Amino acid sequence: MFTLLATDSQTLARRGRLVTPHGAIETPVFMPVGTQGSVKTVHPVELEAIGAQIILGNTYHLAVRPGVDIVKEAGGLHAFANWSKPILTDSGGFQVFSLGKLRKIKEEGVHFQNHVDGSPMFLGPETAMEIQAGLGSDIAMLFDECPPHPCEASYASKSLDLTLRWARRCREWVDKNQPMTGGGRQLHFGIVQGSSYAELRARSARELVAMGFDGYAVGGVSVGEPEPEMMAGVENSVPHLPMDKPRYAMGLGTPPQMIEMVARGIDMFDCVLPTRLARHSTAFTDEGSMNLKNNCFARDFRPISEDTHPLCQGFTRAYIRHLIKAGEILGLRLISLHNLHFYLSLLSRARTAIEGGYFSEFRREFTSKYKNHTS
Ligand code: GUN
Repeated sequence: MFTLLATDSQTLARRGRLVTPHGAIETPVFMPVGTQGSVKTVHPVELEAIGAQIILGNTYHLAVRPGVDIVKEAGGLHAFANWSKPILTDSGGFQVFSLGKLRKIKEEGVHFQNHVDGSPMFLGPETAMEIQAGLGSDIAMLFDECPPHPCEASYASKSLDLTLRWARRCREWVDKNQPMTGGGRQLHFGIVQGSSYAELRARSARELVAMGFDGYAVGGVSVGEPEPEMMAGVENSVPHLPMDKPRYAMGLGTPPQMIEMVARGIDMFDCVLPTRLARHSTAFTDEGSMNLKNNCFARDFRPISEDTHPLCQGFTRAYIRHLIKAGEILGLRLISLHNLHFYLSLLSRARTAIEGGYFSEFRREFTSKYKNHTS
């Protein structure tokens, strides 16, 4: 299912290929986020044009609305969303935990009031796997608890124990209900937790690997911790994961963070930043991000960047700024397309650099040029 095509000699970076029921994914890869089954404002044809290989969907949101039955009746999430390439679904745990007071964590799972009409709902390991099977995603994530940051060692340890018990129940549900092996079956990824505690991360990874999944994610990162701690979360997890399975850092990150994670052996990323920041007029370039609302762009008749996607070429910074100021949706769409293309092509550049044996030079050049904010 996962083939390592090249490894970097100076870092842990890898170039791989993951085969899923809806096609192969070249890694390292960025996965645009389509929480509700739609990458905000972007047409599937455009997604393909800018190089998206796989998108993300979310169990929690789709279970709340429209409900898994409607998606099943439509023929699954691919048919419902008119997207024929691979889809990964998150299990919903992470989103349920962010509901705060509206949820109760129990041994069996999480009881919560949904954010749409407040009606009571339940998600547990079996239901999360069953819903994801119904959605028909190519990759389903296990149901986990993502502890908050900061988190005391005693809570992190208890939370990890629960996540591991839930992982066993996910494994049992899958073995009983989806016993099919080989190509064409849904893949299942375990999620390493353990907060900022190295020994918990190691235990989490070792126990998940013993249960045997198709890939492994590093969860509980990018939850408000300082960047060195985020890097440590990955560094403390990766050594305990098998070489021959894909590794996914959940909910990451800024462009330099992704390149640093690739150097630490991560193969897959998802992040809302390209589309979320587009809604705040922020565009990514090799030099850093810039806010196109700023006055300095009023007469800037250059494109966002020279290597923007053809769909965004011919549009100047001044025009996009005008669209944003005038509340025209095209402005937001153009920045979303540009940002997603930037993220997708950054990982494509990393793939080429790993294959060509110059990933370290690429990493050094990229991170030294990239400034957090330019105006
Ligand atoms: N998305 C970002 N972080 C996490 C995590 O720790 N668990 C899950 N399920 N989803 C995530």
